[in-house]
Amino acid sequence: MSLPTRVQIIDVGPRDGLQNEKQPVPAAVKIELVHRLQAAGLKEIEVTSYVSPKWVPQMADNHEVMEGITRLPGVRYSVLTPNLKGFEAALADAPDEIVVFGAASEAFSQRNINCSIAESIERFAPVVEAALAAGIRVRGAMSCTVGCPYEGEVAPARVGYLAGLLKGIGVQRVDVADTIGVGTPRKVQNAIEAALAHYGIDDVSGHFHDTYGQALANTLAALELGVWNFQSSVAGLGGCPYAKGATGNVATEDVVYLLDGLGIDTGIDLDRLVDAGAFISTELGRKPNSRAATALLNKRAG
Ligand code: HMG
Ligand code: MG
Repeated sequence: MSLPTRVQIIDVGPRDGLQNEKQPVPAAVKIELVHRLQAAGLKEIEVTSYVSPKWVPQMADNHEVMEGITRLPGVRYSVLTPNLKGFEAALADAPDEIVVFGAASEAFSQRNINCSIAESIERFAPVVEAALAAGIRVRGAMSCTVGCPYEGEVAPARVGYLAGLLKGIGVQRVDVADTIGVGTPRKVQNAIEAALAHYGIDDVSGHFHDTYGQALANTLAALELGVWNFQSSVAGLGGCPYAKGATGNVATEDVVYLLDGLGIDTGIDLDRLVDAGAFISTELGRKPNSRAATALLNKRAG
């Protein structure tokens, strides 16, 4: 089976990664992280979210961060917008892409965005319409496509149902997210195939958390289906405030090491990426949560 020859990674560290940090991370640090990621060759960066600061205080500085970054041509900067209020705030900061975020499980939809799946689609529809009218791209994140912290296992049919609804309101591409990192390769492939019933292969991405250490295996399983868009977090930052116990996203360093080894082009300089991960980890007072970064930093030190 031939794998894709090129992979595009969205680093979601500044948003998905940092949103769960208890201590406020200064906007200047978030801005520096974005700059280091683009310097390492990332062509897509999920910068922040325009959500309620009562729900996710860490993202309250969305405007300051978006205003503070120096954008590079050819880099796509995306932000999360759960509703029109969030979209209107985001619009002022001119993101290249907005992300509406739904869930394949009802319970997670309620806990994360305080509404049912059907209600979320009603909220997203005018956001999608307004974004497309403004020439802004639209991505749809689909949480809990394999398992849910409240409902347990999630059937692929639930993923297909959500993907169909997102397609119906004009969402251009979707992320198949294993929010709590419980998936194993065959289950993840089933979730992806359910999304592929509604979207083409270029418009489906993999978003894996590494809670059970399966994220790289799941990445390879997705590559085998032809998926070539992935989301990961530098230094393995992250976790979702509404998914207790879930660890961070798979580390971008680990994914890039895997892809480099497979001869798949990412356009990312692993050494500079490791530097970016070391930078943010130092700021957070910990070591990078990435096996590849740890190995490379040890090698440098030794
Ligand atoms: P709600 O309480 O139902 O909203 O929250 P509401 O419309 O009833 O408004 C209540 C208050 O929130 C009002 O303020 C609104 O103005 C305000 P008040 O009058 O009480 O002072 N408000 C907002 N403020 C700022 N920005 C907004 C906004 N909307 C309303 N956009 C809401 C609904 C969606 C706002 C809330 O549930 C929320 O903010 N949720 C965010 C949850 C979140 O960010 N989760 C993490 C991201 S998802 C994730 O990490 C998973 C992902 O990575 C994929 C994966 O791994 O699975 C994507
Ligand atoms: Mg996530």
